[in-house]
Amino acid sequence: MMDKPLFLRDLWYYALPGGSLKPGQTIAKTLLNEPILLGRTQAGKVFALRDICPHRAVPLSCGRFDGTEVECAYHGWKFDAAGQCTAIPALTEDQTLDFSKFRVRSYPIREAQGNIWIYIGEQSPQDEPPQVPGFDTTYQAAVVMNFPTYLDHAVVGLMDPAHVPFVHRAWWWRADPTLAEEVKTFDPSPLGFTMRRHKLERSTFLYDLVGGDPEVEISFQLPGVRFEQVITKRHRVCNLTTMTPLNDTETEVTTLFYSTIPWFNLLKPFLLPLTRTFLNQDRDMVVKQKIGLQHNPGLMLIKDADTQARWYYQLKAEFARSQSEHRAFINPVKEQTLRWRS
Ligand code: FES
Ligand SMILES: [Fe+2]
Repeated sequence: MMDKPLFLRDLWYYALPGGSLKPGQTIAKTLLNEPILLGRTQAGKVFALRDICPHRAVPLSCGRFDGTEVECAYHGWKFDAAGQCTAIPALTEDQTLDFSKFRVRSYPIREAQGNIWIYIGEQSPQDEPPQVPGFDTTYQAAVVMNFPTYLDHAVVGLMDPAHVPFVHRAWWWRADPTLAEEVKTFDPSPLGFTMRRHKLERSTFLYDLVGGDPEVEISFQLPGVRFEQVITKRHRVCNLTTMTPLNDTETEVTTLFYSTIPWFNLLKPFLLPLTRTFLNQDRDMVVKQKIGLQHNPGLMLIKDADTQARWYYQLKAEFARSQSEHRAFINPVKEQTLRWRS
């Protein structure tokens, strides 16, 4: 357990689903404790600026956005989508102030597959944001939920296999409530690990909808990105779940579905409430966990069932170490088979 919240920097974080940011709109959001103004120009380009006016600190989100430039509410300074100051209304015509040097910090941002990713750190990005494997299109369904807990507890809670039979009890998720032994092999993968593709021994109602004989592959990567692919002879469904820290005590969990099923949209009226119910069960548990965490107890991670959580902490520690030592990241995860009952 870390004593002090630590957010890894110089990584791509999930900012928000592209569909929730319309042309000409801005959204103020705190990410990793930083106030950020996310916006989309009338021309459709997304941008992210520090939500603090460099003149005298009024949040830019208090001002106006005309679809091209943001105007500060206090003295009307204007900034373009790159953060460049473009106007200072108080200047008289003969006053020559070179305000081209005035800028508000802008963050690298990308929009792909319907997702908006933001790069938070001090360096320029050396790579591109995570990609949903095998899909060029946008997501077909998205659920965003606020977990009132520090990032690590949200991440560990969502990757933890042993809670499933206790927290997620529902006919549509598990027809058979008895615990069974699971054996899964994991391999290291970029900034994380992957549960090797395997046949699902016990199917579920949701997986059956995708078609018979489903195979599943699940991968996790820093800072908090999880892909679950379900592959059948006929179709593929990919569920992307991202965890982005808003601040020390709140984490935004976003789960998005991609699929090759032509009638997938018909599923949405059922899938979305079920997904919300499912995530709410996880959320309820972190709320309960917070009651205990207030007293700062020690936490245990046991072998196998909690090994993925251990890997998460090891990945995080190694990432931070590689940065402070200015060297390449060395994945601490080795190929391993884990066994647990769930
Ligand atoms: S504080 Fe923003 S223009 Fe002065
Ligand atoms: Fe869960």
